[in-house]
Amino acid sequence: MAKADIGVYGLGTMGSALALNMADKGFAVAVSNRETDWIAPFVSEAGALAARIIPSDSLEDFTNSLKTPRVILFMIPSGPPMDAMIDAIRPYLGDGDTIIDGGNADFNDTRRRSAALAGSGLHYVGMGVSGGEEGARNGPSMMVGGSAHSWEQLRPMVEAIAARFDGAPCVAHLGPDGAGHFVKTVHNGIEYADMQMIAETYGLMRDGMGWDAPRIGAVFTRWNDGPLDSFLTEITAKTLQSLDPATHQPVVDVIVDRAGQKGTGRWTVIEALKLGQSASAIEGAVAARAWSSEPEARNAVEVLYGKSTASLEIAEDIMEQALLAGRILSHAQGFAVLQAASEAFDWSLDPARIAEIWRAGCIIRSALLDDLASAFRTDPPLGQLILCEPIAARLSRTVPAMRQTVSAAISAGLPVPALSGALQYFDSLARARGTTNLIQAQRDFFGHHGFERTDSPGTHHADWHQG
Ligand code: 6PG
Repeated sequence: MAKADIGVYGLGTMGSALALNMADKGFAVAVSNRETDWIAPFVSEAGALAARIIPSDSLEDFTNSLKTPRVILFMIPSGPPMDAMIDAIRPYLGDGDTIIDGGNADFNDTRRRSAALAGSGLHYVGMGVSGGEEGARNGPSMMVGGSAHSWEQLRPMVEAIAARFDGAPCVAHLGPDGAGHFVKTVHNGIEYADMQMIAETYGLMRDGMGWDAPRIGAVFTRWNDGPLDSFLTEITAKTLQSLDPATHQPVVDVIVDRAGQKGTGRWTVIEALKLGQSASAIEGAVAARAWSSEPEARNAVEVLYGKSTASLEIAEDIMEQALLAGRILSHAQGFAVLQAASEAFDWSLDPARIAEIWRAGCIIRSALLDDLASAFRTDPPLGQLILCEPIAARLSRTVPAMRQTVSAAISAGLPVPALSGALQYFDSLARARGTTNLIQAQRDFFGHHGFERTDSPGTHHADWHQG
């Protein structure tokens, strides 16, 4: 066989699916894996596509089976394994070769590795891949960070395998070094917030209204035909309506309410704070997962304080609008974090392009993202989505429903950390004169930190201890 167009190292779920997707699109794909006994079963399961797959069980053979300059996609655990991989493969690579990390990597690691390889002749790309196994096999959304040289090398392959929205591939070169992984991290932060706000709304119906899972699922099915149309709304409807064959109960009712997290949501919050931002809806979602992992404490607190059993009455369309407002605001927060990072790292991120490549293939794909892409194309005032006319009109319509839903939930003792976080963000921004004048007074009182006056420029102090 001729040499391969691209190499895929790491034949776990995502790596295998991406390799098959590329072979399907006519590319010759070299594959390898640390556990070499995974390679033969992968090739035999590839069926007819095996004709375009070149397996190797050593790094030397793997790199020799690639066209030069080489493009190698690594789908391996992020962190130290990627550093070890770079060290191991470097001796077999040459000028102009590109190493792509397609995992959910910390963008700080991506920046560090890019800087370490700069000037070596090797190029390093951090590429966020979204869409899970199904997306990887049939069309993911991909967020690329790296050099223009690398982008030209990998562009034909990634454009061929990407999900399509109105025929356009959902992949873009978003900036240098860590830009792609940063955008993917924020994508996941928004994913966390969206999932959490959906779960909070499910909680209102389950615990506040006493509805069973299939009935709530039917509500999500209806909502998926309206402005909440999205992949996450759709799978929520399906999961709520699935029955457990062993118990004939809804599957969700036999699942322990303790959520896992691999770190990307938490990274979004950490990076937001480092950038002087606060993505409160995303933070609410990360917090909810963290609190969920303390079942013993939750049981003890419920026993000690008693569980609120107040019932709720909120119309279905009010909850629908509340969820839509939450979705808009959590995206607005995510995009504000992206804008801050773009300025801090000089990435020139294009928010419209990011919204465009999130319209298909990725986990947060939704009808809303198409509207957000159009909104960003109109250059919103101060770069703020919520100041953009069509988005502002939608928020004006839906925020009252969100306020009604959140206040009813709080009165009934039902937790809504992400929805309320989103609302607090909106209410804080919607107040030209807030209350931090008092914070400044307190800071000056105890630390002589100084404050600005409303009527005169410069830094001022007050004599707080007079009299
Ligand atoms: C995606 C997903 C994917 C993965 C998350 C889940 O875009 O395809 O975000 O990357 O499902 O990493 O993260 P948690 O395990 O932290 O929920």
